[in-house]
Amino acid sequence: MSSKPYIYITRKLPEEIINNLCTFADVGMWEKEEEPVPREILLQETKKADALLTMLSDRIDEEIFQAGEKLKVIANLAVGYDNIDIELATKYGIAVCHTPDVLTDTTADLAFSLLLMVGRRLAESVELVKSGEWKSWSPLFMAGTDIHHKTIGIVGMGKIGEALAKRALGFDMNVLYHNRHRKMDVEKALGVHYRSFPDLVTESDYVVCLTPLTEETRGMFTKDVFRKMKKTAFFINVARGAVVIEEDLLLALREGEIAGAGLDVFEKEPIDPQHPFLKMKNVVALPHIGSASIETRTAMMKLCCRNIELILKNEKPISIVNEAVFLAK
Ligand code: GLV
Ligand code: GLV
Repeated sequence: MSSKPYIYITRKLPEEIINNLCTFADVGMWEKEEEPVPREILLQETKKADALLTMLSDRIDEEIFQAGEKLKVIANLAVGYDNIDIELATKYGIAVCHTPDVLTDTTADLAFSLLLMVGRRLAESVELVKSGEWKSWSPLFMAGTDIHHKTIGIVGMGKIGEALAKRALGFDMNVLYHNRHRKMDVEKALGVHYRSFPDLVTESDYVVCLTPLTEETRGMFTKDVFRKMKKTAFFINVARGAVVIEEDLLLALREGEIAGAGLDVFEKEPIDPQHPFLKMKNVVALPHIGSASIETRTAMMKLCCRNIELILKNEKPISIVNEAVFLAK
């Protein structure tokens, strides 16, 4: 048996990205780009693995930790890590790494694009032209809602939230935010304003959710929240589907409690093509592409590989979620 460590990657990555790993480790990889690795294969591979490079679509729970007798590190190709049981990983002494910072601007770009799309009815307009239904110019034809000088409410003021605030300020928007901890330095530097969650949703024309999915944020967007929003306001979610009670959002859209929604994430992904969201003109749905630029995805893949390499060489990783595991060594 080889004495090299074994790294298993749960989705096909470009060869030039993983070449460096191959210089010191044996690398196994699920060879399909479009399909997630089947659970049984992931479990089998985990038994041999010192490291896993995982996707946010892989559920990483106790069964995996038990199978991974040699497992030292899991590097998740995402900034979010709600697919991984962090508390248990820590108990098992397994480091969990993620990809913050490198995706901040790209994700903020997408969040703001979605805001533009819903406000100005861009997706609807594109479809209308392509389907040959553009009959004439008329005064209120495809008239949307302004972006400039409106109020954006950012829920979850992490790095992506700050980057989004800068974009909004460039469009002369009034920027409100809500966060667990108030950020006086950011308020001062950018000129953004803190609000309680209920006040934020009441005052905003665009409510943008960027909060990580945790036990506290799961299902935080309820019927009552949508009812508090202006009837002319839009809800935008670039975080995780499960922060929203989707049935409640559907009802709010149907009953005109809010004007529309821009959704990059869903409780179940990929979304069922029959889902009622997809039949609504005032819903823009994207396939979870917040960080999906070639530059950023490349940087994320490289960061995962680098974190794995550092941990396997007993060096300090760049971005670890459960630092206690590394410090304990
Ligand atoms: C994507 O959703 C991420 O968490 O990076
Ligand atoms: C949500 O508001 C958070 O705590 O970031």
